[in-house]
Amino acid sequence: MSAIDAPEKAPAHDNGPFGEPTDDTAVEMAELRRYRRGEATPDSDLIAAEPQGRRLSLRWANGDTGEFPLMWLRDHCACAACRHPMTRERLYKLMDDPLWASLDRGDAVAQIDVAADRLTLVWADGHVSRFDAGWLHQRRPGHELESLLPPARPWCEGFRPEHVAHADFAETDAGRTRWVTAVLRDGLALLDDGPRELETVSRIAERIGPMRSTNFGGRFDVQSKPNPNNAAYTAIGLELHTDLPNWRQPPDIQLLYCLENAAQGGESSFTDGFAAAEALRLRAPEAFQILARTPIDFRFQDEGHDIAVREPIIDLDADGRPREIRFNNWIRDTLSLPADVIEAWYAAYREFWQELRDPARRVELTLAPGQMVAFDNRRVLHGRNAFDPNTGKRHLQGLYLDRDMLESHLRVLSR
Ligand SMILES: [Fe+2]
Repeated sequence: MSAIDAPEKAPAHDNGPFGEPTDDTAVEMAELRRYRRGEATPDSDLIAAEPQGRRLSLRWANGDTGEFPLMWLRDHCACAACRHPMTRERLYKLMDDPLWASLDRGDAVAQIDVAADRLTLVWADGHVSRFDAGWLHQRRPGHELESLLPPARPWCEGFRPEHVAHADFAETDAGRTRWVTAVLRDGLALLDDGPRELETVSRIAERIGPMRSTNFGGRFDVQSKPNPNNAAYTAIGLELHTDLPNWRQPPDIQLLYCLENAAQGGESSFTDGFAAAEALRLRAPEAFQILARTPIDFRFQDEGHDIAVREPIIDLDADGRPREIRFNNWIRDTLSLPADVIEAWYAAYREFWQELRDPARRVELTLAPGQMVAFDNRRVLHGRNAFDPNTGKRHLQGLYLDRDMLESHLRVLSR
C-alpha cells in the first residue's frame, strides 16, 4: 500500500447531484445531517491512517482515534455507484463483493491517502472511496453518534409543562423546535393562544406529519352538551389512563385542542408513568417486577371490532428502563393467570395505581379555548374530572401523531 494523491489519480466521473470531490470541494457523504470536518465536529482534521490487518486505524488532530473494519469502510462508500444519487440509499451489496477474498489475503486496499478533510481509499479492484474526515469522526466504531433528540426527563415534584405560543409554533422553526423538544423530553407540552376555529388541531398536526387513525377514526371530538341525551356526551370523570393499550402499537402522541370549556369541572390531569414506575421500583420492587414481567390481556370489542393484545402494564427496554406504560382500567380484559399470580398481580396493580395518583407528580390544568395539550400516550397518563354539562359547553378536538414524525421534524430542523 502506498500513499496516493487521490484527486489526481482518481478516475474521472460525471458530476452527480452530490458533485464529485476535487481538491477544493468537500466530500459528499449522501448524508443530510451536519458532519463536515470542523463544522459538526471541531478539530476533526484527519492526521493518520494505519492499516492493521482487516482494520484501518485512524487518528484525528484532537487526539481521537478509531478502528474501522475495512468491510465497514467499503460498505459505507458514498460514491454515486454505491449510494443512489437521488435517494441516498445504499446500492452497494457486500454479499456479492470479491473483496471478501482479498480481506482474507490481506490485500483489500491498494492505496491510502490521508488529507486533513478526507480519507481516500483505492480498493484492490480499483474502486475509489472517499470519506469526509468529520463524517468518519462522528461515526467511529464504539462511539455512539450523538443523538439529535432530547432524552426523556422524569417529572420531579413541582414539574410544570412548557408553554409555546401558537403563533411561534405556526410561524417559526424555533417555536416548533421548542414544542417538539418538550413533547419528546417531558411527554407533555402546551400550545397557547391559538384560534377558536374548528380543525385547528388538524392544521397543527399537518406541520408535523400525517395523523394516526384508529378504530375510532382519525380526528375525533370530545364534546358535551347541556342535558346530554347520548353516551357520547357523558360528563363522568375519567381515571388516569393511556389510550388504546389493546393495540399492538398504541398511538404515540395525542393532541387535544380546546374550542370551548365553559362547563364547571372537567379539569385535565396528567402524570408521568415512567416516573411513577421508577417510584414503584424503589418502594415496592416486587410489585414492579410482577407488573413488568406479567403480560395481561387488553381488549376492545364492539359490533365490528375485537382488538386485543397481551402485554405487561410496564414494558421495559433492554436496559431494564420503562419503555411503555399500558394502563386503562376499563379495557383490561379477563385476567387470565394462575390463581396465585392473580392475587399477587392485583396487589401489585393496586400499588402502582397508588403511585400514579400521587399528587406530587400530577399536573392538573383547565384548558382554555384556543389552548392545546400534547402528550406522549405511551408514557404519560391522562384523565379528567367529572364536569357539569348543564353549566356550559365543553368541546375538544383531538387526534394522534406518530412519534417518528416528531423525531423526524426535530432532526430536519437541526440540519
Ligand atoms: Fe383518553
